[in-house]
Amino acid sequence: MSGMFGDISVEEFLRDYWQKKPLLIRQALPGFQSPITQDELAGLACETDASRIVIEKGGKCPWEVRHGAFDDDSFADLPETHWTLLVNDTDQHLPELKAVMEPFRFIPDWRVDDLMISFAVEGGSVGPHMDNYDVFLIQAQGQRRWQITTQPATPDNFLPDLELRIMREFQPEQEWVVNPGDMLYLPPNVPHYGVALNECMTYSVGFRAPLQSDMLEKLVDDLLEEPRLQQRFRDEGRSLQEHPGELTEADMDRLIDFVLDALPQDTHALQKWLGKYLSEPKADAEAPEPSDISKAELAKLITRKKTFEKTPNIRFLYFLSGSDIYFFTNGLQHILPIEQLDFVRFLCSSNQYKHAGYKDLLQNKEYLDLFLTLIQEGLIYINE
Ligand code: SIN
Ligand code: CO
Repeated sequence: MSGMFGDISVEEFLRDYWQKKPLLIRQALPGFQSPITQDELAGLACETDASRIVIEKGGKCPWEVRHGAFDDDSFADLPETHWTLLVNDTDQHLPELKAVMEPFRFIPDWRVDDLMISFAVEGGSVGPHMDNYDVFLIQAQGQRRWQITTQPATPDNFLPDLELRIMREFQPEQEWVVNPGDMLYLPPNVPHYGVALNECMTYSVGFRAPLQSDMLEKLVDDLLEEPRLQQRFRDEGRSLQEHPGELTEADMDRLIDFVLDALPQDTHALQKWLGKYLSEPKADAEAPEPSDISKAELAKLITRKKTFEKTPNIRFLYFLSGSDIYFFTNGLQHILPIEQLDFVRFLCSSNQYKHAGYKDLLQNKEYLDLFLTLIQEGLIYINE
């Protein structure tokens, strides 16, 4: 997939900036308009606990953090200035927010975390800080002043006793005032400080970068379910050893082999595990709602040219192996013949399936069966 952000091509962006250095792109998304209003964002913050209000001044303490889910009263007693409402995972709730992430799909889906949206009044900020992840910060409404620095955010450079990690000292080296449609890209660990100059909305397209320890923990967790790991260490054919206190090299070799043997030995097994691991829904994602739709009912909907939607909080991904497609839907593996690749790509690439897009594909009986299964599992739903 290729495309342009302002004057820069995605190829140049990947080569020179991704994971490497910050980039401000004026009018990266010209005419960008927030698909939701600030009131709708507040409404969303009342439905999800992935929401926070940060009050720098005028709260119970400096940099007070209040946690959602909120209710109408939560917004009644806020000061005039210096607060920000932040809502994570907004793309899991509304398909029109999922669509905001479309221009960023030159980075593969598995690497994407969420769309966070913030609304701030004048002076609103979460303080100077750094994040562990790459982020595209799209200005959606109003103006924000961004400052960045190369100054390190070392453990001794944080304000004490705060819930937020806010840098004690922050000397800006670059500064921009952004307008709607402008975008700031930040690689991980670049200290930044964004202050709303007036009522402003900022969209953060955030990426995920698994922690090595988390991946290993998850891999081991999954392996523990395998019956083959129920074998015990054996040491028939021991040779006599002189000192009972010694852990001999020969024993260590056997023990090391024994424990390493527990890990999958072939790449293919690990690839399948990756597909499952990376397509699993987020821990706090709402479970999909299964449907008991029949094949005949689906056929009727197709004749009526209905639009279908991918459930916003689910993940599809696939990899190719020989003449098979390993297609993963929310942690579940389907092995399909390579002939079905067009359809799998179609399912993965869109979030919305319109009649014009699916009508030819769904003539195929296998595709129709797979589509039906996905609807029955609640991973695709009918747009009423
Ligand atoms: C914000 O949108 O207010 C904060 C985004 C960030 O600094 O990461
Ligand atoms: Co940040």
